[in-house]
Amino acid sequence: MISKVRKAVFPAAGLGTRFLPATKAQAKEMLSLVDKPLIQYGVEEAMHSGVQNIIIVTGRGKSSIEDHFDVSFELEQLLESKGKQDLLSMVRGISDMIDIAYVRQKEALGLGHAVLRAREVVGHEPFAVVLSDDIIESEIPCIRQLLDVYDFYGASVLALMEVPRDQISAYGVVDAELMADKGFQNRLFRIRNMVEKPRAEDAPSNLAIIGRYILIPEIFEAIESIQPGSGGEIQLTDALKYMLRNRPIYGLKFEGKRFDAGDKLGYLKATVELALKRHDLGPPFAEYLRTVLACGARES
Ligand code: UTP
Repeated sequence: MISKVRKAVFPAAGLGTRFLPATKAQAKEMLSLVDKPLIQYGVEEAMHSGVQNIIIVTGRGKSSIEDHFDVSFELEQLLESKGKQDLLSMVRGISDMIDIAYVRQKEALGLGHAVLRAREVVGHEPFAVVLSDDIIESEIPCIRQLLDVYDFYGASVLALMEVPRDQISAYGVVDAELMADKGFQNRLFRIRNMVEKPRAEDAPSNLAIIGRYILIPEIFEAIESIQPGSGGEIQLTDALKYMLRNRPIYGLKFEGKRFDAGDKLGYLKATVELALKRHDLGPPFAEYLRTVLACGARES
C-alpha cells in the first residue's frame, strides 16, 4: 500500500545572498509579495493540497517566521478593541492555519543538509519539500499535481519546468524519458540522470528541477551518503542522483506559472502579476502602470 503524504518540509535557512541587502537582517522567506510573506504562499499551497503538517527548517535571524505563524495577543487585543473584525480574523487565520514544527539548521551547508535536519520530525514516511521562494500560480496547487503522480506510482516526484538554454546553468537539470502515460498528458517523465547547475553546453536537457518535491524517506540515507558538491554544499540534487541507482524517480512538467521570488527581477515580476490579479488592487494598479509606462515612452 502507498503511504499517504502528511508532511511538508520548508527549508528556510539559506542566506539569501541574491537579495542582499534586504536579506542582511531579514529572512528572505518573510519578504512580502503584495501583502503576504513568501513562505505563507507555500504554506497555503501545502494546505490546499491536503498536507496537514508543516516542518520549517530555520536558521539564525529567522525568528520572524515563527512569530508570523504564532499568536499575537497584543495585536489581536488591539484589533478587537477597535472593532476591526476583518483584520482580526485574518490575523487569527494565520496562527490557526496549520500545525507547524520548527527544526534548526545551524549552518547553511546546503539544501540537502537542510532537508536532512528534518529527518527526526518526518520519520519513516514520504513527505513534500517546498522551497518558498518559488511562487507557483496554478489552478491545481503544484504540490497536489505532484501528489497525484505519487499516489499512482508510490515513488519520488520532482516538479519540472522548461528553461531557456542561456538560463539553465542556474538549475538542477534532468535527463529524462517521456512516459507514455496518457493520464498525465505528455507531462510525466521517468528520470534517468540529473546534474546540478551544469554549463549550458553540458546540460542534458532544458528541463529544470524547481522547488517542489515529493520524496520517499530513503532520501535521508542518500543525503548522508553523498559528499559536498556544487558550491561546497550538500546538494539535494546529488542525493536524488544517488537514490536513482536503486529507486525510480519521476518528474512532472507541472501546469502553472512559476516565479523565482528569491531573485530581484523574479520578485518584481511576481509582485506586479499577483497585484494585477487582486480584485481590490488590480484595477487601480493597472491604471497606475499605464500612466508610468506612458510617461516612460514620452521621455524616451
Ligand atoms: P537557494 O538556492 O535560494 O539559496 O535555496 P539561498 O541561500 O536561500 O539564497 P541565495 O541563492 O544565496 O540568494 C533554496 C531554498 O533552500 C533553503 C533556502 O532557505 C531556500 O528556501 N536553504 C538553502 C536552506 O534551508 N539551507 C541551506 O543551507 C541552503
